[in-house]
Amino acid sequence: MLYVSCFMLLKKILTKASKEGWAVGHFNVSNLELLKAVVEAAKESQSPVMIGTSEGEREWLGVKNMVALIKVYRQDWPHIFLNADHTKNINVAFDAIEAGYDSVHFDGSSLSISENIRQTREVVERARNKNINMSVEGELGYLKGESQLSNQKIKINPADYTDPEAAAEFAERTGVNRLAIAIGNIHGINLDEPRLDFDRLRKIREAVSENVALVLHAGSGIPDADIKRAIESGISNIHISTELRVLFKQGLEQSLKSNPGEYALYKLEKEVVRSVQDLIRQKLRLFGSVGRV
Ligand code: G3H
Ligand code: ZN
Repeated sequence: MLYVSCFMLLKKILTKASKEGWAVGHFNVSNLELLKAVVEAAKESQSPVMIGTSEGEREWLGVKNMVALIKVYRQDWPHIFLNADHTKNINVAFDAIEAGYDSVHFDGSSLSISENIRQTREVVERARNKNINMSVEGELGYLKGESQLSNQKIKINPADYTDPEAAAEFAERTGVNRLAIAIGNIHGINLDEPRLDFDRLRKIREAVSENVALVLHAGSGIPDADIKRAIESGISNIHISTELRVLFKQGLEQSLKSNPGEYALYKLEKEVVRSVQDLIRQKLRLFGSVGRV
């Protein structure tokens, strides 16, 4: 646990976002440079922000290292919250809880609904035993794609979308604070722009308790107008990864090409981090979270 008050704050911030019609940005990081870009952008924008690490990103970075880093960065900007994103293995979720993450996303979407409910409930209990204010996200519906650029056309089966009534039951039986839903969103930037089912989103929002924040994953590649409409229709937390990855990779390639004689890595990365920071600032503006804390 980083700071007890911050867990309460995350819940409060999400409630405030949902009441006021804006969304908290969640950005995945896999190195110090991306982390630095997110924190700097959040601070400049006076925005609350969530930092996500997937199972793979956590394995690379180390959960204890991440908790320690966030603790230090919070001295600079307190409104940052660390989330164990897309955790498919329950024991790995427990590791993040024990290490002191602020939040855990248990992704049981590939399990049967009864098993998803059972395991998510277990994660909620473990998290609450560690600290009553820890935030837990569950997932219902099947989100396709990977956080990368791809030339693939991804077709979504209507059966993979989140059903409003099932979502309400899932939220009630698991006790989650946040719920990730599938409404046409696809991880990564793929051949076609994703088409969000706003009608379904509104029905999910009506059915699920207002204490549960609805999360839009796979935010990369969704047009700005659709992001705004999603927020108006009940989304209060938005995940972005691919757009940061692509910008960082392409920026670094360009920097290496333009500076063949430079060996000070931080000098090669400075501009790249700045461009990622600019992108995050734009997203925070789009989500309406600027100046909300
Ligand atoms: O959990 C991570 C996000 O859903 C990222 O999705 O790579 O499509 O932005 P994205
Ligand atoms: Zn996701």
